[in-house]
This record gives sequence, structure tokens and C-alpha cells, in this order.
Amino acid sequence: MNIVEIIEKKKKGNELTSEEIRYTIEGMLSGNIKDYQMSALLMAICLKGMNAKETTELTLAMRDSGDVLDLSCIGKTVVDKHSTGGVGDKTTLIIGPLMASLGVPIAKMSGRGLGITGGTIDKLDSIPGFNSDISDEEFIDLIKTVGVVDAAQNKNLAPADKYLYALRDVTGTVDSIPLIASSIMSKKLASGADAIVLDVKCGTGAFMTVYQSAKALAEAMISIAKLAGKTCVAVITDMNQPLGYAVGNYLEVREAVRFLAGKEQNPRLYRIVVELCKQMYKLSDMYTEMSDDEVEEIIKDAISSGKAYKKFKEFISGQGGDVGFVESLESAVDVDNISYEYRASKSGVISSIDAELIGRVSLALGAGRVNKEAEIDLYAGIIFDKVVGDFVNEGDVIATLYAASGGKLEAGKALIEESVSVSDSFSDSDIIIDVL
Ligand code: URA
Repeated sequence: MNIVEIIEKKKKGNELTSEEIRYTIEGMLSGNIKDYQMSALLMAICLKGMNAKETTELTLAMRDSGDVLDLSCIGKTVVDKHSTGGVGDKTTLIIGPLMASLGVPIAKMSGRGLGITGGTIDKLDSIPGFNSDISDEEFIDLIKTVGVVDAAQNKNLAPADKYLYALRDVTGTVDSIPLIASSIMSKKLASGADAIVLDVKCGTGAFMTVYQSAKALAEAMISIAKLAGKTCVAVITDMNQPLGYAVGNYLEVREAVRFLAGKEQNPRLYRIVVELCKQMYKLSDMYTEMSDDEVEEIIKDAISSGKAYKKFKEFISGQGGDVGFVESLESAVDVDNISYEYRASKSGVISSIDAELIGRVSLALGAGRVNKEAEIDLYAGIIFDKVVGDFVNEGDVIATLYAASGGKLEAGKALIEESVSVSDSFSDSDIIIDVL
């Protein structure tokens, strides 16, 4: 076997064997296969694709390149949820404790934000004391004692993915469905859950901007999960507008807290939380023959009874976070940052708030990372007073922007006007597009 033959084979669009795929990944990590050869192979995969079997073999080879967590000691079906990334997506913060409050063990390893997409670990970092850098033993212990854990992906989780992703980033080979699907699923499979619910975002603020490509990505990931012996459901959800009222790390934690405390529940956020939890519940051991409506009632009750909020506080304190700080988030925003109120220049209905542009506003304010090494301001971001479908009178506040400096605030101000459209009418769309 040699890498030049493997590249030639893929260039002609032929199927690679599992031995060839493993040989390539091992050679890449040992340095025997050079970056220029891997880059050529990645481009051939981008152009010629990979079938379901090859994509799964690639995923498994990447999973096995590092630590693979064994959660069989939990003795129950452990469920995970993964979002392909969006703007204002704080669902993980709500869903993990909510499901744990219903007796479904949740084992989550999350990432940090990059570009316009936020990451759960950055959000949790805004809670004083919260520790996401925990050992495998602590991870398992927290699932057993609290029922929910969220840790930063450890350095040895699918190292082949880290290597490949860095190459893809600089060789124009990120946007390939087999490469994205194997990258995401290698980390999911290594983090040990038995059942996975995928939230595949679709729209301007997502990797996949149109339904057909979101569906193709969802199908590729489901096929990998099934071939790897896991149960998996994908929900395709709309990401043309930001999710909920807040964008930015501390501000999103605050929105999650207010949601769980019953203070403020954005309807689209409520809808997606209930749908994702329903799918997770149906994959868990708690599920017995019951209708979807009955499952939804159980989930809604966990929110309205305060059970999910109680579990959220246990989750935060289980990982060292300050529960007093969490409770303080139920009230007004309390940050040192300077702010600017963006007001409607005319009366009408908000017909769109472009998720991609809002992601850029958030980056300009300092809430996001331009590259992996960049520092972020955990307290910067945006709170919307009005969302798509709301009526505004001229002069009403639509959103408040928060930033650490006048320069950053000015950069955000310049962009927000382009992001929001006020018209005579708007067309409503369900956030849940499809369930596969
Ligand atoms: N997220 C990942 O983890 N990998 C990709 O390739 C794209 C999104």
C-alpha cells in the first residue's frame, strides 16, 4: 500500500478500503504521510465524495486515533445531543439539565466557538468557578451523581480530526459532506454516548444554508451512527434568524437561566427545546409506549415545575460553578461593558433578522473568535427586545449591543442596521424543518 496509489484511486472516484483508510490516518499522525499528500487526498475526497461505508471507516479511524470513553458502567442508555452550530444557540445549556431531571443520563463534551458560531464551553466559562476541564473519572462520576455533565473536549479526543481539520481549513476542503460528517461523528463516537440526537442547522447562520445539503449531512451522520452501532435521530432546524433573544456567552447563559426559571421563554427556543428533548427522551430507557403528545407533556412539565431549573443549578455546582451568580442572572443584565440601543427607524413588522450578519455583529463586538487562538469577551453580545414577527413603532428599541470598547461598539452598530429588516408583512416559518 502507498499513499500515491490511494490518492490516484480516489482521484478516479473509486472506493477506498478500510485498510487504506486506516493506513492513511495512521501515516498522517506518524508523519510518514506528508501534509501535501493528505491535502491532495482531501481535495480528491471533496471532488469525488465517499460512500457511506468509506465515510464510516474514516470516522472510526479518526475515533480510534485517541481516547474512546467507555460509559457502560452507567448501566443506562446515555444520550447526547449535538448541534452543527448556529447563532444564539443555547439549547445545550437547557436540554442537558432538563433531560437529567427526567432521569435520562446526559454525557456531553462540547467545543468552543469559532467564527460566527458560538460554543457551549465559552458560555459556561462566563459562570465564575465553572470547571469544564475535568478528568474521565470526574466525567463519569458526575453522570452517576448529578445525571448531567458538560466537559471541554479533551486533547486526546479524536486527534486525527484536529489534524485533518487544520489542513482542511487552509486547503479549501472544509465544505465536503463526508469530511464534515466524519469530523463531527468521530468526536461524538469517542465521547461514549449510546444514543445521539443531531440538531442539523440550516440557513444563513449555519454551515448548510439550504435544506438539500442539511438533509444530506444529516443522512450521512445517521448512517455513520447506525453502522457504528448507535441509535441516532436528526432534527433539521432553521438558522436563518438567531435563536432566542440573546447572542453572546454570558448573555446566552442568562437567557437559558431565565428560560428555566420561567421568567422569559422565547417561543422558537421553547419549540426547539421541546422537540429535541422529545427525540432524546424517545431514545432513552425512560421511554415506554406513549404518544408524542404525552412525551411533550412530560418535557413541558419539567420546565414549568422548576425541576429542570433545579437540576441546572445542581449541574453548575457539580462542576464548581457559583449558583448565587446563576440566580442573579434571573434579573437585569449586570456587566461593566458599555451599551448601545439600536432603535427602529420606521414603524412596521420585523420581517427578518439575518443570522449570519448577527453572527458578524457579535464577532465585531468581541463575543466571537476570529481564529482559534483569539481572546473573546465573555460579556459582549446582543439582546433583542424584538424578534421576527414583532411590530415596532419608530424609535422602539430593537436590540441592545454590549461591548468592552467604543471602537467595538461602533463596529457592531455599523453592521446591525444591515441585519434587521422592517416591512409591512412577514412570513412565519416553523423552526423545526424535518425530523429524520
Ligand atoms: N464541525 C466539526 O466538528 N467538523 C466539521 O468539519 C465541521 C463542523
